[in-house]
Amino acid sequence: MTADRFHLGWFYSKGFGPKAWKHAWAGSAVDRFTKPDMAVDLVRAMERAGFDYVMIEDSSNVPYTYQGSHDAYLRHSVDTPKLDPTVLAPFLVAATKHLGVVVTCSTTEYHPFMLARKMNTLDHVSDGRIGWNVVTGSNDGGAQNYGRDRQFPHDERYDMADEFLELTYRLWDAWDPDAVVLDLERGVFADGSKVHPVHFEGKYFRSRGPLSSPRSPQGSPVICQAGGSARGRQFAAQWAETIIALAETPEQMKTYREDVRASAVEAGRNPDGIKVLFLVSPIVADTRRDAQARLDAELTLTDDRIEYGLAHMSRLSGIDFSQFDLDEPLPKLKSNGHQSMAAAFEGKVPRDLLRRAQRFGSDMFIGTATEIAALMDEVMQEVGGDGFLLANSYFSRRYVTEICDGLVPELQKRGLTRTHYDHEHFRDNLLAF
Ligand SMILES: Cc1cc2nc3c(=O)[nH]c(=O)nc-3n(C[C@H](O)[C@H](O)[C@H](O)COP(=O)(O)O)c2cc1C
Repeated sequence: MTADRFHLGWFYSKGFGPKAWKHAWAGSAVDRFTKPDMAVDLVRAMERAGFDYVMIEDSSNVPYTYQGSHDAYLRHSVDTPKLDPTVLAPFLVAATKHLGVVVTCSTTEYHPFMLARKMNTLDHVSDGRIGWNVVTGSNDGGAQNYGRDRQFPHDERYDMADEFLELTYRLWDAWDPDAVVLDLERGVFADGSKVHPVHFEGKYFRSRGPLSSPRSPQGSPVICQAGGSARGRQFAAQWAETIIALAETPEQMKTYREDVRASAVEAGRNPDGIKVLFLVSPIVADTRRDAQARLDAELTLTDDRIEYGLAHMSRLSGIDFSQFDLDEPLPKLKSNGHQSMAAAFEGKVPRDLLRRAQRFGSDMFIGTATEIAALMDEVMQEVGGDGFLLANSYFSRRYVTEICDGLVPELQKRGLTRTHYDHEHFRDNLLAF
């Protein structure tokens, strides 16, 4: 028995910016980190391998949570610099024909009208291949760049995001599909009776509407979300079409997925309309021993990596990790940032967390391509679906090739992932199985 076909996404971590710039295989990409060329090469490989989408991470500040200074962030390039992912997206679309391109934009940094307009335009120019990773912001430094002292309280950010999405959908639906007439004989460009002002008056947002551009090929971008907290999951169950999730073991993955599907039903949705992709970071090598050696190297702590990890964890949680002893269990942490991550830190020893600070997801998938493909099959059978989101922080053209031209052909041989795209639009491919 094999698992049903499953989906693949790529987490383009560190966004439109430098990748693992000190890593041996990063070489050719380092000094061109402000250019689209590496991402363009990589999405071609992902499309060749039949990925559903690439998701471009983003955050928009030079953090200073660790030691109250931006120095460590800049010295090691921790979560900074990052350029605007919505400007990278059209280059990736132009280099591919089928791959979905998901951009991260925050509901606390955009106005709904501006976001709705940008996504609508991207969906038009990509012929229906755009997705939006909905984030609500987490670091106070980000809020300060937009004129506020700090982020809104965690759960309220999701209340605001609910209203934000209600409004953006009203704007995306404001033009009927047949509103643009282009009738030369009658001299009519668009039919005014088919374009509707929205007159939205919410608690947080107002907009008259309609959107200033016609309905896009998909109508709305594919909504991607990664909320891990109870409130975040509730939000995802209501809006998300694909969820990117952190879970270590197959049991945790199964529980997470079943939880989301049950919440989706409660929200009146068909649970099959949400594809949950679990973040994993396989290490593929010619032998299992080589793969294990690479994992050991990734987990070895150097002074550089200690500082990198402390700075990174500080940014994510909003808590300055320089105050804790590296070898003492962490106390109860209160975070207004990524709550689920802060909760996962509690009681753990910083040095252990730091070993993993630059790895994503579980260490389950370490070995040859054949071994990993067989294990992915088993895990998906246990979890029940829907697929994996791949990522690695030591991420280079080499890593992407190992996955796309090494691992994926093994998955395809087993009939586990697609060999071609059946549909034109991102959403239709995502929902095809
Ligand atoms: C795979 C993955 C990717 C994420 N990408 C981003 C991102 O690009 N930008 C961002 O601000 N937050 C990102 N997040 C954070 C989530 O949006 C969310 O805030 C976090 O998982 C904590 O959940 P909570 O908001 O429910 O507490 C990501 C989370 C995960 C698991």
